[in-house]
Amino acid sequence: MPSNKKKTAAHGYLVCEKFLFRVGKKNKLKRFAENQTFDHLFQYNFQELQANGFPLKGQWNDRFFNNDNPIVLELGCGKGEYTVGLAKARVGTNHIGFDIKGARMWKGLKESQQLGLKNVAFVRTRIELINHFFEPDEVSEIWITFPDPQPQSSRIRKRLTSPVFLNYYRKFMKADGIVHLKTDSQLLYDYTMEVIEEEKLPLHFHTNDLYATAEDMEVKNFRTFYEQMWLGQGISIKYIQFGINPITR
Ligand SMILES: C[S@@+](CC[C@H](N)C(=O)[O-])C[C@H]1O[C@@H](n2cnc3c(N)ncnc32)[C@H](O)[C@@H]1O
Repeated sequence: MPSNKKKTAAHGYLVCEKFLFRVGKKNKLKRFAENQTFDHLFQYNFQELQANGFPLKGQWNDRFFNNDNPIVLELGCGKGEYTVGLAKARVGTNHIGFDIKGARMWKGLKESQQLGLKNVAFVRTRIELINHFFEPDEVSEIWITFPDPQPQSSRIRKRLTSPVFLNYYRKFMKADGIVHLKTDSQLLYDYTMEVIEEEKLPLHFHTNDLYATAEDMEVKNFRTFYEQMWLGQGISIKYIQFGINPITR
């Protein structure tokens, strides 16, 4: 029955959220407390943003990173494998991970602190609020790593590659900004390919079985927590790289 099918897909993610990312209550409190001590973590909710705005908006490079390097985001970063991994591998870019779950982010915060990385920051907030954090032309690249595919049709607008979210990103990305989607979900892969076609966006690369491709690509160099889990279950990893703005002729 279709309703059962929907329930199963959504249920899979709920099971992961509940059991795989489980951090004991005591541990969680310890992580939340340690998060308060990191000077590369920013935690903002809607009320705070409404009242005072975000102080580094438009000034991330001048006042935080202290360089002119391109800014790269990871949305729904979880433990921040791409934020930290790319920051280590590319010395010439600045990396910011966004997620709402502070206990998960703690891992990336701790690792980047221990490594002394100066090109890493994390923001704990809802991705829906992302326009409060950047001015136009401030961001060059976005990585969306294993987001919830939001399988229910009533939640299509919540997909991080929906036109709603692409319009958010367009407001602060450079004209030639690039978006990377890495996912286990065939539904989200197919949906994103449709959006790219409908919006006439430049498609730079796509595959629904990344590790079966011969190309030597940066995207293969890091595997996230969810990715390892899906690979362990024999699920192929899908990857799309596209431009944020339509092709103009
Ligand atoms: C399936 S997990 C993937 C985590 C990580 N990227 C990985 O591959 O292991 C999705 C992540 O997105 C975060 N998330 C989902 N919706 C969000 C939202 N609206 N705002 C901020 N974070 C969100 C969740 O907290 C979770 O950590």
